[in-house]
Amino acid sequence: MSDIGLRQLDELWARGCDFLGSQYAILGGAMSWISERHLVSAISNGGGFGILACGSMSPELLDAEIKATQALTSKPFGVNLITMHPNLDQLIDVCGANKVGHVVLAGGLPSAQSIRTAKDFGAKVVCFAPALIIAKKLIRSGADALIIEGAEAGGHIGPVATSVLAQEILPEMASQLPVFVAGGIGRGEAIVSYLDMGAAGVQLGTRFVCAEECVAHPKFKQAFLRASARDAQPTVQIDPAFPVIPVRALVNKGTQRFAQFQGEVIARWRNGEVEQKAAQLEIEHFWAGALRRAVVDGDVENGSVMAGQSVGLVTKEQSTSDIIQELVAQAVVGLDARSPRKIA
Ligand SMILES: Cc1cc2nc3c(=O)[nH]c(=O)nc-3n(C[C@H](O)[C@H](O)[C@H](O)COP(=O)(O)O)c2cc1C
Repeated sequence: MSDIGLRQLDELWARGCDFLGSQYAILGGAMSWISERHLVSAISNGGGFGILACGSMSPELLDAEIKATQALTSKPFGVNLITMHPNLDQLIDVCGANKVGHVVLAGGLPSAQSIRTAKDFGAKVVCFAPALIIAKKLIRSGADALIIEGAEAGGHIGPVATSVLAQEILPEMASQLPVFVAGGIGRGEAIVSYLDMGAAGVQLGTRFVCAEECVAHPKFKQAFLRASARDAQPTVQIDPAFPVIPVRALVNKGTQRFAQFQGEVIARWRNGEVEQKAAQLEIEHFWAGALRRAVVDGDVENGSVMAGQSVGLVTKEQSTSDIIQELVAQAVVGLDARSPRKIA
C-alpha cells in the first residue's frame, strides 16, 4: 500500500470523512438484529462509521442500545430509524437525549417534519434516495446527506442497479451534498470507482456480516460463507394483483415455500374464500419475524437470510478492523495501479 495512494484516497473521500467524523468514509449499513452495539462499535473503532439498526425496537430498548454502544466506542456512530415505526417521534427524541450525531431515516420517504425534528437537536440527517426526483425532494426537506442503494444490496431493495443509480444521481447531486453509494460493494476498487464518480463515501452491509464481532448466529455466517452471488435473490411475486416488497435474501426452503404459499392464498381468493385485502395481509405476514429467526435462532432454512450479491465475496470470518483495512488496501492498490508512475 503506497503513501501516495493512501493520500489520494484520503482526498477522494475527504468530504465524506468530514461529514461523518470518521477516518474512512465507509458506513456499516444498519442491519436489523445484526447492527447492534458490538458490530457498530467495532466498525467505528476500526475507522469506519457504524450505524445502529433500531428496527422494531421500543424507545427504551433503543436508549439502552445507544448507551451501550457509547460505552464501547468514543468514535462517532449513527442510528438508523425506520420511518413507519409507530413511535418514530419518540425514537428521534431518544437520539436527541443521547446526543446522536447522525440519524439515518430509512424504509420510506421521511416527512420534512421528522427531518426537522432530528436536525433541531443538532443531528445530521441522512436519507435514502431511490430516484433523482426523490433526491431533490429530500434536499428541499432538509436532508444533510443521501444514500443511494441499488438492487444488488441485501434486505429491502428497489428495482434499479447501483451502477445506474450512481450515474443518474451522482452527477446532479454530488455537488450539493454528500452522497453515499450502497449495494453490491465488496472490494476497495469498487469503492474507488464510486468516489471517482463523485460519491462522498460508501455503505456496506453484507461484507460485515461475517465479522468476528458480529453477533449473528454461526449458522447465519456459515450460510454467507457458502453462498455465491447468484444465491442472493429477490423475493418472487407470482401475481401483480398481490404485490410483494422485494427483499434480497439467500434462496432456501422459506423462499421456495413463499412462492407456494402465495399460490395457495391467491387460489383461495379466486374461489371467494378470502377477501383480497385479507389475502394481501396473509402474504405480507408470511415473513414476520423471519430475519430474527435466521439471525438470532440460526434457522437458515426457514428464516430470511437477507444478503446482497456481494455475499460471494465473503470468504472468511475476519475481525471488523481487518475487513476495513482490506477494503482500504484494495482501494489504494487500485489507485496505485493507475498512477502515472506505473503507466510510464
Ligand atoms: C441482513 C441485512 C439486514 C438489513 N437490515 C436493514 C435495516 O434494518 N435497515 C436498513 O435501512 N437497511 C438494512 N439493510 C441494508 C444495509 O443497511 C445496507 O444498505 C446494504 O446491506 C448495502 O448493500 P450490500 O448488502 O450489498 O453491502 C440490511 C441488509 C442486510 C444484508
